[in-house]
Amino acid sequence: MLHDLLRSEDPTEASRLTEAFALDVLMGLSSAPKHIPSKYFYDDIGSRLFERIMGLPEYYLTGCEREVFERQHQRVVEELSGEPLLLVELGPGNGVKTRLLLRALCERSQPFRYVPIDISKSALSALLDSLETAFPGIEAEGIAADYLSGLRWLTRGADTRTVVLFLGSNLGNFSGAESLVFLKSLWNMLKDGDLVLIGFDLRKDLDVMRRAYDDSEGATRDFNLNLLHRINRDLGGDFDVDGFRFYSTFDVHGGSITSYLVSRAEQSAYIEAIGRRFHFGPWEPIRTELSYKYLESDIERLAEETGYTIVARLYDARRYFTDSLWRVCKGE
Ligand code: AVJ
Repeated sequence: MLHDLLRSEDPTEASRLTEAFALDVLMGLSSAPKHIPSKYFYDDIGSRLFERIMGLPEYYLTGCEREVFERQHQRVVEELSGEPLLLVELGPGNGVKTRLLLRALCERSQPFRYVPIDISKSALSALLDSLETAFPGIEAEGIAADYLSGLRWLTRGADTRTVVLFLGSNLGNFSGAESLVFLKSLWNMLKDGDLVLIGFDLRKDLDVMRRAYDDSEGATRDFNLNLLHRINRDLGGDFDVDGFRFYSTFDVHGGSITSYLVSRAEQSAYIEAIGRRFHFGPWEPIRTELSYKYLESDIERLAEETGYTIVARLYDARRYFTDSLWRVCKGE
């Protein structure tokens, strides 16, 4: 089953979503320097492009986290065993890693209900279909919504033991302050003793990190350029997409891969849904994404500052990536 909190079939709801997109673009393109929030990458085309990125040899994150799950899921399953479980996943993607965990829970006859929350409805339906085939009779339902509204709707008044999966280093798209606010909002919605499993891409050789965001096939470039195509499609924009060049770099001081679309020349674009024209100087950038890479001390500080205790730290063999299991701690 799929609960559609975004209700994009509902014309008033669809126009509300388009309006939010238009306002975020207006805000970002009126700022100096210009930027567009990376959550808008993921329309149907963008979600498919991200699938392609996950299959690239340079994009080590997916393989590393799969390895973490293959080698260490027993450690997580131990902590999860007990009373019936509400297993919520924020931004599940294709669910390859989750499947390993679900299988282990089934083998232990651990009762659970699995609820993925995602803004891409097509990605959600595909995931639910594949899970129902792999695990006949599985109790699973999707929520099409942004993470926090979906979780708030789901956990309203619920007293089931809850585990939240937030994998893939999805947290890395938030700035430092946004991460604190996000983790604290999550904490507010959960109960003492609930668990969260968070994927963090760790700091490593600069070239390894850079190549993951500037692949030889140009999949990451197309993923970024899709933002301008999407503005043209959904907001009636007239961007000359070829007039922009994709560029990404590792910011050693800030700690993130930062991605941009850079205007190759003086140009402008009109966006119908905003009713305004935006100007771009030669080599002026639009920042499209931050993908934060964590130090161990960053992870400890985040947990400590937002009210969690670290229960387990799981790694791949090269220590490129970690999944960190945290317990919500509400005692004095
Ligand atoms: C899905 C946010 C984890 O930042 O690595 C992949 C998205 N962007 N290549 C990331 C992404 C460019 C990805 N996350």
